[in-house]
Amino acid sequence: MKVEILSVANIYGPSLERLGREFTVHKLFQAADKERLLAEVAPQVRGMQAAGHARVDDTLLARLPKLEIISCFGVGYDGIDVAAAKRRNIIVTNTPDVLNDCVADLAIGLMIAASRHLCEGDRYVRAGKWSQGPLALTRKVSGKRLGILGLGRIGRTIAKRAAAFDMQIAYHSRNRVPDAPYRYYDRLLDLAHASDFLVVIAPGGAATRHIVNEEVLRALGPTGILINVARGSLVDEQALIRCLQEGALGGAGLDVFEAEPKVPEQLCAMENVVLQPHVGSATHETRAAMGNLTIDNLLAHFAGKPVLTPV
Ligand code: NAP
Ligand code: 8YV
Repeated sequence: MKVEILSVANIYGPSLERLGREFTVHKLFQAADKERLLAEVAPQVRGMQAAGHARVDDTLLARLPKLEIISCFGVGYDGIDVAAAKRRNIIVTNTPDVLNDCVADLAIGLMIAASRHLCEGDRYVRAGKWSQGPLALTRKVSGKRLGILGLGRIGRTIAKRAAAFDMQIAYHSRNRVPDAPYRYYDRLLDLAHASDFLVVIAPGGAATRHIVNEEVLRALGPTGILINVARGSLVDEQALIRCLQEGALGGAGLDVFEAEPKVPEQLCAMENVVLQPHVGSATHETRAAMGNLTIDNLLAHFAGKPVLTPV
């Protein structure tokens, strides 16, 4: 008898297939009648496969009396009520490290795209406007001051790449990273004042909600650029729109949004903003690695071994 797993979020196709070979999988995310599926399978479910964007609250956990483990496809787990899971002795795992490269690559890509107006240039050429004259000059990236909010696994990977662009790197987090060769700011506002680019790569959740507020955005200034590859919740999106509209902030590169997949029309209308549909980890290679780690955590647990990457 295979262990029964509740899948609450769609993940990389080949990973979902592998999950189906190892376990009996109930796909709640695609069930037409979710209540009916839950009523049928909840008493037997021993494992859950979730994802970074999936909401797993205490009400759902209360309906799964035999649940032992939640394996999250994603490093961020802000949608999961981890405290409630711990209270119920449910293990939570995530997928750290395997996505560092891709998210860092995207952060650098957004930095260059926003500063050099790559997407505007593309639209300009396609619209046949080049023959009418050149695109307006943009701003240099190499050698500029980069502030990183969250010098964790991904933040450090971004810093390594930025060093190759001769950037002056500084960071803010709650704790100083002892072995990091970059300047530490214990106040985000001071980091913003001292940065040309501010890259946001700290976890979502209540503790970081709107940590990038209007004051921080204004400190970044009229030529400053905000990059968010973390969670939409960290940035006050209405303040961001106001600052961009007024010219108090120079530009932005955004992979994540407060109410994604809804993106405010005002942002879509701005040429100095580059938008991506939450694709930081969205490559075949990285999604496959995330899928394998998600499944390997479940396999380890049900083989009576310690999980590989507990939260
Ligand atoms: P990590 O290794 O845990 O690093 C998180 C960093 O944020 C640490 O430096 C931490 O330092 C800092 N931090 C935590 N809480 C903070 C607070 N309240 N104020 C200031 N700094 C704080 O995490 P990671 O693996 O790099 O991932 C970071 C986040 O990226 C994830 O949680 C996820 O939401 C997001 N992400 C997005 C995508 C995407 O597709 N766009 C992909 C992957 C990950 P201190 O503890 O010292 O404060
Ligand atoms: C994924 C992410 O897009 O790892 C994270 O925290 O946000 C991304 O890698 C997400 O988890 C997949 O749903």
